[in-house]
Amino acid sequence: MKDFLTLACERYSVRKYSEKEIEDEKLEKILMASQVAPTSNNCQPQRIFVIKSEEALEKVRSVTPYCFNAPVVLMVCYDETVSRNAIDGHNYGFDDAIIATAHMMLEAYDIGIGSVWVRGYDKRKLDATFELPENLVSVALLPIGYPCENSKPSKAHFKNIEMKDMVTYI
Ligand SMILES: Cc1cc2nc3c(=O)[nH]c(=O)nc-3n(C[C@H](O)[C@H](O)[C@H](O)COP(=O)(O)O)c2cc1C
Repeated sequence: MKDFLTLACERYSVRKYSEKEIEDEKLEKILMASQVAPTSNNCQPQRIFVIKSEEALEKVRSVTPYCFNAPVVLMVCYDETVSRNAIDGHNYGFDDAIIATAHMMLEAYDIGIGSVWVRGYDKRKLDATFELPENLVSVALLPIGYPCENSKPSKAHFKNIEMKDMVTYI
Protein backbone atom coordinates (compact mmCIF):
# COMPACT_ATOMS: atom_id res chain seq x y z
CA MET A 1 0.00 0.00 0.00
CA LYS A 2 1.04 3.57 -0.67
CA ASP A 3 1.12 5.83 2.35
CA PHE A 4 -2.46 6.68 3.27
CA LEU A 5 -2.41 10.34 2.27
CA THR A 6 -1.01 9.52 -1.19
CA LEU A 7 -3.80 6.98 -1.63
CA ALA A 8 -6.43 9.47 -0.48
CA CYS A 9 -5.08 12.16 -2.85
CA GLU A 10 -4.81 9.85 -5.86
CA ARG A 11 -8.20 8.15 -5.55
CA TYR A 12 -10.67 9.61 -7.96
CA SER A 13 -14.19 8.83 -9.13
CA VAL A 14 -14.04 6.31 -11.95
CA ARG A 15 -16.77 6.70 -14.56
CA LYS A 16 -15.40 4.40 -17.28
CA TYR A 17 -14.84 0.74 -16.51
CA SER A 18 -13.07 -2.04 -18.37
CA GLU A 19 -14.84 -5.33 -19.02
CA LYS A 20 -12.46 -7.23 -16.75
CA GLU A 21 -14.29 -8.98 -13.94
CA ILE A 22 -13.43 -8.31 -10.33
CA GLU A 23 -11.81 -11.39 -8.81
CA ASP A 24 -13.71 -12.86 -5.84
CA GLU A 25 -10.71 -12.34 -3.53
CA LYS A 26 -10.62 -8.65 -4.38
CA LEU A 27 -14.35 -8.25 -3.87
CA GLU A 28 -13.99 -9.97 -0.53
CA LYS A 29 -11.22 -7.56 0.51
CA ILE A 30 -13.42 -4.61 -0.36
CA LEU A 31 -16.26 -6.06 1.71
CA MET A 32 -13.88 -6.72 4.60
CA ALA A 33 -13.03 -3.04 4.64
CA SER A 34 -16.70 -2.41 5.43
CA GLN A 35 -16.73 -5.19 8.00
CA VAL A 36 -13.95 -3.58 10.05
CA ALA A 37 -15.17 0.02 9.80
CA PRO A 38 -15.82 1.77 13.09
CA THR A 39 -19.50 2.08 14.03
CA SER A 40 -21.27 3.72 16.92
CA ASN A 41 -21.33 1.46 19.96
CA ASN A 42 -19.87 -1.13 17.58
CA CYS A 43 -23.44 -1.90 16.47
CA GLN A 44 -22.34 -2.71 12.92
CA PRO A 45 -25.67 -1.96 11.24
CA GLN A 46 -24.16 -1.73 7.74
CA ARG A 47 -25.71 -4.12 5.22
CA ILE A 48 -24.27 -4.45 1.74
CA PHE A 49 -26.01 -5.79 -1.35
CA VAL A 50 -23.61 -6.94 -4.06
CA ILE A 51 -25.43 -6.17 -7.30
CA LYS A 52 -23.75 -8.43 -9.82
CA SER A 53 -26.30 -10.42 -11.80
CA GLU A 54 -27.39 -8.91 -15.13
CA GLU A 55 -30.97 -8.80 -13.83
CA ALA A 56 -30.02 -6.84 -10.70
CA LEU A 57 -27.67 -4.55 -12.66
CA GLU A 58 -30.51 -3.72 -15.03
CA LYS A 59 -32.68 -2.85 -12.07
CA VAL A 60 -30.14 -0.48 -10.55
CA ARG A 61 -29.47 1.12 -13.95
CA SER A 62 -33.19 1.84 -14.17
CA VAL A 63 -32.90 3.91 -11.00
CA THR A 64 -29.79 5.97 -11.80
CA PRO A 65 -27.69 6.82 -14.86
CA TYR A 66 -24.58 6.85 -12.65
CA CYS A 67 -23.69 3.16 -12.63
CA PHE A 68 -21.79 3.75 -15.85
CA ASN A 69 -20.65 0.34 -17.10
CA ALA A 70 -19.40 -0.95 -13.75
CA PRO A 71 -19.59 -4.75 -13.51
CA VAL A 72 -20.60 -4.62 -9.84
CA VAL A 73 -22.57 -2.08 -7.84
CA LEU A 74 -22.58 -2.17 -4.05
CA MET A 75 -25.76 -0.92 -2.45
CA VAL A 76 -24.98 0.24 1.07
CA CYS A 77 -27.75 0.21 3.64
CA TYR A 78 -28.07 0.12 7.40
CA ASP A 79 -30.47 -1.77 9.59
CA GLU A 80 -32.24 0.79 11.73
CA THR A 81 -33.35 -1.87 14.20
CA VAL A 82 -29.64 -2.44 14.91
CA SER A 83 -28.17 1.08 14.88
CA ARG A 84 -28.29 3.24 18.00
CA ASN A 85 -29.68 6.66 18.77
CA ALA A 86 -27.70 9.54 20.25
CA ILE A 87 -29.15 11.33 23.28
CA ASP A 88 -30.56 13.98 20.94
CA GLY A 89 -32.42 11.31 18.94
CA HIS A 90 -29.99 11.27 16.02
CA ASN A 91 -29.75 7.76 14.59
CA TYR A 92 -26.13 6.77 13.99
CA GLY A 93 -26.98 4.28 11.25
CA PHE A 94 -26.35 6.78 8.47
CA ASP A 95 -22.94 7.74 9.88
CA ASP A 96 -22.04 4.07 10.26
CA ALA A 97 -23.02 3.21 6.69
CA ILE A 98 -21.15 6.22 5.34
CA ILE A 99 -17.86 5.34 6.99
CA ALA A 100 -18.24 1.73 5.83
CA THR A 101 -18.68 3.05 2.28
CA ALA A 102 -15.61 5.27 2.54
CA HIS A 103 -13.56 2.30 3.79
CA MET A 104 -14.65 0.24 0.77
CA MET A 105 -13.90 3.03 -1.66
CA LEU A 106 -10.37 3.45 -0.36
CA GLU A 107 -9.65 -0.27 -0.11
CA ALA A 108 -10.87 -0.70 -3.68
CA TYR A 109 -8.50 1.98 -4.92
CA ASP A 110 -5.62 0.42 -3.00
CA ILE A 111 -6.06 -2.88 -4.85
CA GLY A 112 -6.52 -1.33 -8.29
CA ILE A 113 -10.31 -1.26 -8.39
CA GLY A 114 -12.04 1.98 -9.28
CA SER A 115 -15.27 3.25 -7.78
CA VAL A 116 -17.59 6.20 -7.70
CA TRP A 117 -19.84 7.20 -4.83
CA VAL A 118 -23.37 7.61 -6.16
CA ARG A 119 -26.32 9.36 -4.57
CA GLY A 120 -27.81 10.69 -7.76
CA TYR A 121 -31.10 8.80 -7.58
CA ASP A 122 -34.49 8.90 -5.93
CA LYS A 123 -34.12 6.83 -2.78
CA ARG A 124 -37.81 5.93 -2.82
CA LYS A 125 -37.41 4.45 -6.29
CA LEU A 126 -34.26 2.53 -5.31
CA ASP A 127 -35.92 1.07 -2.21
CA ALA A 128 -39.03 0.07 -4.16
CA THR A 129 -37.05 -1.45 -7.02
CA PHE A 130 -35.14 -3.73 -4.65
CA GLU A 131 -38.13 -4.21 -2.35
CA LEU A 132 -36.06 -3.29 0.67
CA PRO A 133 -37.71 -4.27 3.96
CA GLU A 134 -38.73 -1.39 6.24
CA ASN A 135 -35.83 -1.85 8.62
CA LEU A 136 -33.21 -1.33 5.89
CA VAL A 137 -32.29 2.22 4.97
CA SER A 138 -30.36 2.66 1.75
CA VAL A 139 -27.59 5.22 1.89
CA ALA A 140 -25.38 5.04 -1.20
CA LEU A 141 -24.48 3.11 -4.31
CA LEU A 142 -20.88 2.26 -5.08
CA PRO A 143 -20.26 1.08 -8.64
CA ILE A 144 -16.89 -0.68 -8.69
CA GLY A 145 -14.65 -2.24 -11.33
CA TYR A 146 -11.33 -2.04 -13.09
CA PRO A 147 -10.91 1.41 -14.61
CA CYS A 148 -10.84 1.58 -18.39
CA GLU A 149 -7.36 2.22 -19.79
CA ASN A 150 -8.28 5.77 -20.71
CA SER A 151 -10.08 6.52 -17.46
CA LYS A 152 -8.84 9.70 -15.84
CA PRO A 153 -9.91 12.01 -13.03
CA SER A 154 -12.45 14.71 -13.83
CA LYS A 155 -11.53 18.38 -13.39
CA ALA A 156 -13.52 18.38 -10.16
CA HIS A 157 -11.05 15.94 -8.66
CA PHE A 158 -8.35 18.62 -8.64
CA LYS A 159 -10.49 21.33 -7.07
CA ASN A 160 -9.80 21.19 -3.37
CA ILE A 161 -11.12 23.60 -0.81
CA GLU A 162 -8.40 25.79 0.65
CA MET A 163 -7.23 24.94 4.14
CA LYS A 164 -8.12 28.45 5.36
CA ASP A 165 -11.73 27.98 4.22
CA MET A 166 -11.98 24.51 5.64
CA VAL A 167 -10.22 24.73 8.97
CA THR A 168 -10.87 26.92 11.96
CA TYR A 169 -8.53 26.74 14.92
CA ILE A 170 -10.35 27.68 18.08
C1 LIG B 1 -22.37 11.94 -1.27
C2 LIG B 1 -21.81 11.87 -2.67
C3 LIG B 1 -22.67 11.72 -3.73
C4 LIG B 1 -22.16 11.61 -5.04
N1 LIG B 1 -23.03 11.33 -6.07
C5 LIG B 1 -22.53 11.17 -7.32
C6 LIG B 1 -23.39 10.80 -8.39
O1 LIG B 1 -24.59 10.58 -8.21
N2 LIG B 1 -22.85 10.66 -9.64
C7 LIG B 1 -21.51 10.83 -9.87
O2 LIG B 1 -21.07 10.68 -11.02
N3 LIG B 1 -20.66 11.17 -8.88
C8 LIG B 1 -21.13 11.33 -7.61
N4 LIG B 1 -20.28 11.63 -6.58
C9 LIG B 1 -18.84 11.80 -6.85
C10 LIG B 1 -18.40 13.27 -6.75
O3 LIG B 1 -18.90 13.98 -7.85
C11 LIG B 1 -16.86 13.32 -6.69
O4 LIG B 1 -16.41 12.62 -5.57
C12 LIG B 1 -16.33 14.75 -6.62
O5 LIG B 1 -16.64 15.45 -7.79
C13 LIG B 1 -14.79 14.77 -6.46
O6 LIG B 1 -14.16 14.04 -7.49
P1 LIG B 1 -13.23 12.79 -7.18
O7 LIG B 1 -14.02 11.78 -6.42
O8 LIG B 1 -12.79 12.30 -8.54
O9 LIG B 1 -12.06 13.29 -6.36
C14 LIG B 1 -20.76 11.73 -5.28
C15 LIG B 1 -19.90 11.87 -4.17
C16 LIG B 1 -20.41 11.91 -2.89
C17 LIG B 1 -19.46 11.98 -1.72
